[in-house]
Amino acid sequence: MSTYNDVVLAFKNHFTTEPRVFFSPGRINLIGEHIDYNDGYVMPAAIDKGVWYAVSANHSDNINFFSTDYNESYTTTIHQIHPQQSWKNYVLGVLHILEEEKISIGGFDCVFGGNLPVGAGLSSSAAVEGGLLFALNTIFNIGLDRVTMAKMAQKAEHSYPGVKCGIMDQFANLNGQKDHVILLDCVTLDYQHFPLQLNEYAIYLINTKVHHSLASGEYNKRRHDCEEGFAILKEKIGGDIHSWRQITSDQVVLHQSYLTDKVFDRSLFVTQEIHRTQKAGKLLQQNNLKEFGKLMFQTHEGLSKLYEVSCTELDFLVEQAKHFTEVIGARVMGGGFGGCTINIIEKEKADAVISTITSAYQKQFNIVPEVYQVATSNGTYEITL
Ligand code: GLA
Repeated sequence: MSTYNDVVLAFKNHFTTEPRVFFSPGRINLIGEHIDYNDGYVMPAAIDKGVWYAVSANHSDNINFFSTDYNESYTTTIHQIHPQQSWKNYVLGVLHILEEEKISIGGFDCVFGGNLPVGAGLSSSAAVEGGLLFALNTIFNIGLDRVTMAKMAQKAEHSYPGVKCGIMDQFANLNGQKDHVILLDCVTLDYQHFPLQLNEYAIYLINTKVHHSLASGEYNKRRHDCEEGFAILKEKIGGDIHSWRQITSDQVVLHQSYLTDKVFDRSLFVTQEIHRTQKAGKLLQQNNLKEFGKLMFQTHEGLSKLYEVSCTELDFLVEQAKHFTEVIGARVMGGGFGGCTINIIEKEKADAVISTITSAYQKQFNIVPEVYQVATSNGTYEITL
């Protein structure tokens, strides 16, 4: 974990150039999970935890990275961008996409690090990708707009890191707006910023502190299951079907015999979650948080039983949350297999409720979970002092 000061100081210690400094946020997602790559809608917001970048052109062909979180350097040149290991693939993936798009840049010095726990479902990878792309776009005057950068950062994640993610994380990272959630249509990329008015409630994340290592492989498998389901349903239902939005849960049930058990479950979840998110969008606009929260619990159920991206620790936290009327919604957030639950809790009672939930968790798993009260943020920006 690093702070703004750690990043700026490390830059001074490693390089002689004068950096520009950027903040690149993580994200939460209120509802619409695992449907950004299935023609769905999502409701993310950028948060005040993220990654700081200090970057400067160095007028050579050399690219010098230093990660304060890993206390590790990596140096290459603009002509030698190849996959490497761990954190390097997230920054090199961005350079690879710039190369693929024939966007030329010069050499640069770069230090980065932040306070987003890795594997917690807060999208530290999109923060690393979006932050670097935004910084390079600024210092080399490339002229990319934020939506284009989000699409490129998504491609970066597909490339060297190899996770075939949807657009949600990179989109929220670049297009967030403080005190707002983004209602994003993942097909057209039309979006609205909607004020996040929680009144007597607040959003709390409870981090299980576990991250089951199957995560990225299983993510791509889910995507594959959904592609298989869609192809079969499209053929069997017939007509002009080109999107999951055109398929109802009833149709999935009707065609169950053509699908394997797993593909049936995944397909049912996708159709239910698309429907649920549409309903949730309306409820949020009507400020009906209680009904909205009920849908969050339903999403958790689907992610756990049908989509199978939860785990014992996450399920335990959500079950505990259900014991309290002060918690109006709780569910696993992000890719799953560990990381955080997102909870909407009555502010006045939150301390007591969270302390009971986290004590029970600690007793059960012998792990002390972390709790974060969420504050929203603008999308990636330059810090001007
Ligand atoms: C990860 C991916 C996103 C999205 C979520 C699940 O965070 O990067 O694209 O699919 O999982 O909703």
